[in-house]
Amino acid sequence: MSLLSVTDLRGGYVAADEIVKGAALHVEDGEIVSLIGPNGAGKSTLLKLIAGLLRPSGGHIHLGDRDIAGLGAPEISGLGLSFVPQERNVFGTMTIAENLEMGSFTDGRHARQRMAELYERFPMLAEKRRAAARTLSGGQRQILAMAIALMNAPKLLLLDEPTAGLSPRAAEELFGTIVALNKTGVAILMVEQNALEALAVSARACVLVQGRVEREGRAAELASDPTVRDLFLGGKAQPMLAGTT
Ligand SMILES: Nc1ncnc2c1ncn2[C@@H]1O[C@H](COP(=O)(O)OP(=O)(O)OP(=O)(O)O)[C@@H](O)[C@H]1O
Ligand SMILES: [Mg+2]
Repeated sequence: MSLLSVTDLRGGYVAADEIVKGAALHVEDGEIVSLIGPNGAGKSTLLKLIAGLLRPSGGHIHLGDRDIAGLGAPEISGLGLSFVPQERNVFGTMTIAENLEMGSFTDGRHARQRMAELYERFPMLAEKRRAAARTLSGGQRQILAMAIALMNAPKLLLLDEPTAGLSPRAAEELFGTIVALNKTGVAILMVEQNALEALAVSARACVLVQGRVEREGRAAELASDPTVRDLFLGGKAQPMLAGTT
């Protein structure tokens, strides 16, 4: 059984206008899967549907053996799936410690123990625990956003463009952090504009075009596939890939 299995998923922001038009994908235990595709393909919308921030108009989303389609975000997160949105993913005026507390459902001992584990894994957060989140660099902020999502010890983490706006060097470091996190057993489904870099750290990938998964396969194969390369090198994603080919 797959950790996450999405079939014929449909939905969008208003009932009459489907953005995701029958998408299918799966994530196995412990995998990194990249979701790539042109601007406006519906990648963020697909993540929001899976995470329960948008209500699907059709299809199935199985987390293990449980169909989570239609459940709300807090409930889904309680079942082991956490989502890190691209924007507004930390509270800038609050401290790092307060941000982490916001990520936890439970007060008290459990949350404190989890925070201690996360401080151990990300010493930068421990050092800056009393600083306001807005004082972090872009890369540090993304680590905090992931750590908030990790407060509930998810089995699967959804990341929407974690490296957006980062320098190439900070992006590379963050990919390293994501790989290290994955090695602790957390499966990852990530949307990335830095498609080739994302494919390089992924086991598999899906290409979303106009709300449908047009291609799916081993990341290494997709990275060398001429039609996939055309899609990114010829499309709007080109500036993002400059210097990577
Ligand atoms: N909050 C919203 N309300 C209504 N429509 C939206 C909203 N957010 C996105 N859309 C529309 O949904 C479609 C898909 O957008 P989405 O953000 O899912 O694409 P994406 O693949 O993540 O693109 P990008 O690579 O630019 O992030 C677009 O036509 C967009 O205009
Ligand atoms: Mg998006």
